[in-house]
Amino acid sequence: MGSEGEHVLTMDTLNPNVIELQYAVRGPIVARATEIENEIKTGTKKPFAKVVKANIGDCHATGQKPLTFIRQVIALCTYPELLKSSEFEEDAKERSRKIMAACKGQSIGSYTDSCGLMVIREDVAEYIAQRDGYPSNPADIVLSTGASDGIKSVMTLLLTGGKGKDVAGFLIPIPQYPLYSAAISEFGAYPIPYYLNEKTKWSLEVSELERALADAKPHCKPRAIVVINPGNPTGAVLSKENIKEIIKFARRHGLFLMADEVYQHNIWAEGAKFFSFKQVLQEMGAPYNKMELASFMSASKGFMGECGYRGGYAEVINLQPEVRAEYYKSISAKLCPPVSGQTVIDCIVKPPKSGEPSYQKFMAEKAEVLSKLKEKAKFVTELFNSIEGISCNEVMGAMYAFPRIYLPEKAIKAAEAAGQTPDSFYCFALLEETGICTVPGSGFREEPGTYHFRTTILPQMDELKTVLNNFKTFHLNFLEKYK
Ligand SMILES: Cc1ncc(COP(=O)(O)O)c(C=O)c1O
Repeated sequence: MGSEGEHVLTMDTLNPNVIELQYAVRGPIVARATEIENEIKTGTKKPFAKVVKANIGDCHATGQKPLTFIRQVIALCTYPELLKSSEFEEDAKERSRKIMAACKGQSIGSYTDSCGLMVIREDVAEYIAQRDGYPSNPADIVLSTGASDGIKSVMTLLLTGGKGKDVAGFLIPIPQYPLYSAAISEFGAYPIPYYLNEKTKWSLEVSELERALADAKPHCKPRAIVVINPGNPTGAVLSKENIKEIIKFARRHGLFLMADEVYQHNIWAEGAKFFSFKQVLQEMGAPYNKMELASFMSASKGFMGECGYRGGYAEVINLQPEVRAEYYKSISAKLCPPVSGQTVIDCIVKPPKSGEPSYQKFMAEKAEVLSKLKEKAKFVTELFNSIEGISCNEVMGAMYAFPRIYLPEKAIKAAEAAGQTPDSFYCFALLEETGICTVPGSGFREEPGTYHFRTTILPQMDELKTVLNNFKTFHLNFLEKYK
């Protein structure tokens, strides 16, 4: 033990991978937004009444309402005395009884198996089978603490334990969701960035995958390719043809497929359709249908937006049985994901059926959330494209816009002088002047020499209109100031 004032952990002794790790969605700009909120509370005058957190895909935080059926089932599981109440629908009661019956001691306060309750894994498998038209095995379903935890658990399996050029490499899209770069830093793994093509609606081109892989091969052992579909932050939705090409690429190079499909319910563009990697892989037949694939889903997105419950699952197919046993073992040390989160997943994958008491309301509430998001996706795309110095690909899916900002040379110089990236400089100025909190594109990585920011499309429409009006004024003033 060190003497008083001495620390075991200093910036010199702290795990360097932790220092390296960055997670922009909750980075310094968000810390400043929280400070501003406190300043407003303590009476500091600002040119705006409140901070609008457009930095994170946290649906309920921006006013989205929870679905009644989901909350009734959770309430009943949490406090079974409510089963006596006539306020709750019979199908919600039945569902809660089924879940509690599967829990040890009939309580959601007990640990479940590490992979989650088997009754819920079975419901997930049934959902996937119906969605894709191909069978799904409940033993391949692993419930997780949000998708984040499921993703990191699978990445852990792929680490090599080697050093230098023997470390595991992960192909990740650029721009990417920063969970991937953060996990790669934490694990001391090697990022293999492949660039999505902004000029063609953020398309994913196999020639670019080949380039990225060839460049990385001298530096690491490439192990997996991560694909986010629909994309965060890009909003792009992949076609079936494109998915086939990616699968063939992965097979050619012996890569494990990781498909992040948490936005599978969030498709907005006319003609766009969600295809799961699992479905396409099955459709392609042998030898592709024997490839290892992990696909991820979450309770946090879609129409439910239940981020705080931390529900998610992975379907991991075609693992060797011995490897699957090691996978289960590796997650057993985490005990289990929250049972309330598992319950949310069950309600999503097995919603009330036609004729059941909660059906009408469930469908109406789901449709309302999705139609509002669709309207906002269109509105945001059109608005950004109407502003000088900005271009924005269509928000085809997911919950974000990732507009490109064309910054004047003087602004880039001013950013350099302030020790910031130009897009951070821009986003900080936006926050200070309007209260709008976004994430600089550099947090997702971006092609050198290009600048972006990410905003969610989640604020309610009235607020979104005001926010974007304020944004427009800010942007034009910014261009004027640095022209
Ligand atoms: C692409 C993507 N994957 C995974 C996640 C993690 O979601 P959660 O851990 O809340 O399920 C997110 C969250 O925003 C995301 O955007």
